[in-house]
Formats: sequence, C-alpha cells, structure tokens
Amino acid sequence: MKFLLLTCLFIANNWISSVISKDAALETVSKHGQLSVDGVNLVNQYGEKVQLKGMSLFWSVWMPYYYNKTTVDNIKEYCHSNIVRPMMAIDTKDGGYLTDPDNEEALIDAVVEAAIEDDIYVLVDWQDFEAENHLEQSLYFFDRLSKKYGGYPNIIYEPYNEPITLEWSNVVKPYHEAVIKTIRNNDPDNLIVVGTPQWSQRLDLAAADPILNQSNIMYSLHFYAGTHQQSERDITKAAIDAGLPVFVSEYGTVNADASLPVNVSETLLWYEFMEERGMSYVNFAVSDKEEGAAALIPGTPPEKVCWEDYLTESGKIVVEHNKA
Ligand SMILES: *[C@@H]1O[C@H](CO)[C@@H](O)[C@H](O)[C@H]1NC(C)=O
Ligand SMILES: *[C@@H]1O[C@H](CO)[C@@H](O)[C@H](O)[C@H]1NC(C)=O
Ligand SMILES: *[C@@H]1O[C@H](CO)[C@@H](O)[C@H](O)[C@H]1NC(C)=O
Repeated sequence: MKFLLLTCLFIANNWISSVISKDAALETVSKHGQLSVDGVNLVNQYGEKVQLKGMSLFWSVWMPYYYNKTTVDNIKEYCHSNIVRPMMAIDTKDGGYLTDPDNEEALIDAVVEAAIEDDIYVLVDWQDFEAENHLEQSLYFFDRLSKKYGGYPNIIYEPYNEPITLEWSNVVKPYHEAVIKTIRNNDPDNLIVVGTPQWSQRLDLAAADPILNQSNIMYSLHFYAGTHQQSERDITKAAIDAGLPVFVSEYGTVNADASLPVNVSETLLWYEFMEERGMSYVNFAVSDKEEGAAALIPGTPPEKVCWEDYLTESGKIVVEHNKA
C-alpha cells in the first residue's frame, strides 16, 4: 500500500512536470534574449526563469565531422534542443588546441556561428582536466572568443570542463577568476559556467568558498546516472539550498565510463530533480561511437543527427526529455 502510494506520487509528479515544461527547440534566443543569474536561477531578458536543454558534441579531435551547421540544425530540430555544446579538445594523444589551435578554433567558430544563425544558445567547453597548467592558452582563447562573439546573447562560456581531484580554493578558483576577468573585459554579461573539483561534482567545495563580486556565474554539475546517484543529488541539493546556482553542462544516462547499461530509473530520478528546480541540462553526447553514452548509432551522418531511426537507447530518452 505504502509502495503503491509512493508510486502514484511519483507518477503524478512526473505528469505535472511534463505538463508545465516545453519543447526546448521552441525556447529560442530571440524569445529569451540575454540570460542572467538571479539567486540560484537562470533567467531570461524579462527576469523570468528559463531552462536550456540540449546536446554536447563529442571531442572535437575525434568527431570533427559533427562540427558544422548541418549537425546544429538537426540538434535544434530533431534533438529538440535550445543549446549545443562544442567540446574543444585541449591536450589528447591525438592533438587538440595546444598543438593545433587554428584548426580547433575553426571548428568551434563553425558551431558558434551555426548556433547564432539557428537562434539557439551555445556553450563553449574548454575540454581539459588540468586547465591550470594551460592558463596562458586558455586566456588567449577566451579573450579571442569573447571579443568575437561576446556581443551575441547566444554565447555561454565553460572555461574548465572537469578539474580532477584538485584543490578548489587555491587551484581551480584562481584559474576561473583569471579567465572570468579576461572574458569580462570584452563581454560584461554573458553566462560563465565554472567547473568544480572531482570531475565537476564537488559543488560543496564551491558553495563553501564561492567566486565573489561577479555576476552571471553558474557552477557546473556533471553526472552519469549509472554511477552518480542519490549521494550526488544530496550534495547538489545542499549546494543549491546554500545559494549556489548550478548548471548541468554534461550528463549521461549510463556509467561514468560511458558504458552500458542505460540506468533508466536513475535517469528519471535525475530528470525529476532537475525539472523540480527548473535546471538546465546538456547531454553527452551527439556521438556515433559504439558506446552507451552515444545518442546516435554508429555511422550516423550529420544529415541524420537525432532522426528517430538513428537514436540509441540513451538518445531516445534524452530527446524525449528535451521536448517534453
Ligand atoms: C557538414 O559536414 C558533413 C560531413 O563532412 C557534410 O556532409 C555536410 O555537407 C556539412 N555541412 C555543411 C553545412 O557544410
Ligand atoms: C568584493 O567586494 C567587496 C565590497 O566592495 C570587497 O570588500 C571585497 O574585498 C571584494 N572581494 C573580492 C574577492 O574581490
Ligand atoms: C540503476 O541504479 C540503481 C541504484 O544503484 C540500481 O539498483 C539498478 O540496478 C541500476 N539499474 C541498472 C539497469 O543498472
């Protein structure tokens, strides 16, 4: 009986949240305009709460073929998204920004320009795990990016994907402060989403020592529902309750190593958690790699991104939530 009652409550809750939320593809930049952070909430140009839902691309060095307008068009229309996240590789065995900055910048620019044309938001990710060791390159990149595109309300910056198990107050936070200062010289107001230690999960450390005297900063949470569950939701809830604005710039429905299975029940608990709070979330990934986290089946061409017959088990759940 108790179980039945809880089940009914759970279904009722899901029903309510799916009635009040909308297809993200309709929630465009021309509708919401300049974003800002009000307390723990992301709000639009009218100060109303706004939710971004969408897709991360895969590492630029390994799937450059998705870094163009064909894919971005489909991310909006068929993945039902109002945000795309290009993921610029920095330092991999196959290269990245440190060795090939011009080529990497061209890939990012193609996605940013497509997002502007398609009237959706774009979250530019510096995909690094030890970004404090590449501060000079990062400042150079974000200076250029914010000079070139900072006037568009579409652009959102993510200067540090996932700090590993590093010290927040003396290592990660000073890195962010340096990048924020550089961006703010060119772009006074667009959103900046900052990574936290332990692969962007230790929101508690950031809540205890937040970045001060800056506006429009959110803190990123990354989770993979097969691995990160109630204890990570508890940490996130406590951080939000303490006043920290949180943005889910990367999540998966599978294990943290991107492997199957899709954990449907935990994924639904996360969606419920995020919907209750009107949080924004970006799935990893528009990828056709043969792994559980990929939204697309192997061999999916840019022209077919998120078409129904090309979605994996994970891709189907994600697209369903982007539009409902
Ligand atoms: C994007 O890249 C794909 C794969 O290389 C190509 O088929 C498609 O025509 C490109 N689209 C645009 C708009 O350049
Ligand atoms: C923030 O601003 C306050 C008031 O202007 C100032 O006292 C404080 O030193 C500033 N803190 C930082 C970290 O810049
Ligand atoms: C999902 O996670 C829950 C909680 O850890 C676990 O009980 C369940 O077996 C998992 N489901 C799958 C499909 O792995």
